[in-house]
Amino acid sequence: MQDALTTLNWLVEAGADEVIGDAPVNRLQAKAPTIPMPAKQAAPVFTPAPGKVPAAPQSDTVGDAQALAATATSLADLKTAIENFEGCALKRTATNTVFADGTPTGRVMFIGEAPGRDEDRMGKPFVGRAGQLLDKMLASIGLDRTRNVYITNVINWRPPDNRDPTPEEAAQCLPFLRRHIELANPQVIVLLGAVAGRHVMGISDGIMKSRGRWMEYRVGDRMVPIMPTLHPAYMLRQPAHKKLAWRDLQSVAARMESLGLPELFSQGN
Ligand code: URA
Repeated sequence: MQDALTTLNWLVEAGADEVIGDAPVNRLQAKAPTIPMPAKQAAPVFTPAPGKVPAAPQSDTVGDAQALAATATSLADLKTAIENFEGCALKRTATNTVFADGTPTGRVMFIGEAPGRDEDRMGKPFVGRAGQLLDKMLASIGLDRTRNVYITNVINWRPPDNRDPTPEEAAQCLPFLRRHIELANPQVIVLLGAVAGRHVMGISDGIMKSRGRWMEYRVGDRMVPIMPTLHPAYMLRQPAHKKLAWRDLQSVAARMESLGLPELFSQGN
C-alpha cells in the first residue's frame, strides 16, 4: 500500500495527474496482434446534409483575442473577457481560468509563465510550492501580495502536464496580458523565468544571460522598467541559484526606492 502511495506521489509530482480512463492500462504487457479492419467496417465519413455545411473554422484566434482584450476598460472587464475567450485550446483541459492575484494598485507587477496544478485547482496564480517561495522572495524586499504587489502569468490556463506553452498558445494569450499591464499600470515589472522573458520581451538569450538586466516596456506613452529574473520553480530545483535571484531582487528594491514606492506603501496607497 505504502509503495502504491509513493508511486502515486511521484507520478503526481512528475505532472502525471490527469485520469484518462477508468481502467488502468498495463503498457508493459505484450500487445495483442492488430487485426486489420475489413474494408466494409471502415470508419464512417461525415457528410453534411445539404444546406448544413459547417462554418469554416475560425482561425484568427489571435485577432479575436486582440479585439476582445481591447474592449476591456477595467480589470474586472478583462477577467470576464478572458473567461469568455474560446480561442485557446488550453482552456478545454484546464479546470479554471487563472487571472491574477494580489493588489492591482500596488504598482509592482510580477509576471510568471502559466498556472500549474495547484493554480489550476484554485484559479489563482502562484499558490503552490513555487508560489510559497515567491512569497518569501517578495517579503525579503518588503512586498506582500495582500498589500502592494500584483501577480499574473503570460498564460491563463494550465498547459497539460505543465509543458511549456506553444508559441501559438502564447500568441493567443498575449493580447490579454498586454491589456492587463495597461490596465494595472505598474511602475515596475518583474518577469519570472525564461518563458515570460521570451513572450513579453522577445528575449531569446537564456535566462542566465538576461536575468538582472533592466529593460523598458512601453505602456501607452510611458516606458516602464522591466527586469527578468529566475523563476521560483527553477530555484526549488537549483537552490544554489537563489543568491542570483536575491541580487536581482535587491536591484528591484533599489528601483522601487528611486521611484518613491516604499513611501507610497507606508502611506497605505
Ligand atoms: N508557475 C508559474 O509560472 N505561474 C504560476 O502561477 C505557478 C507556477
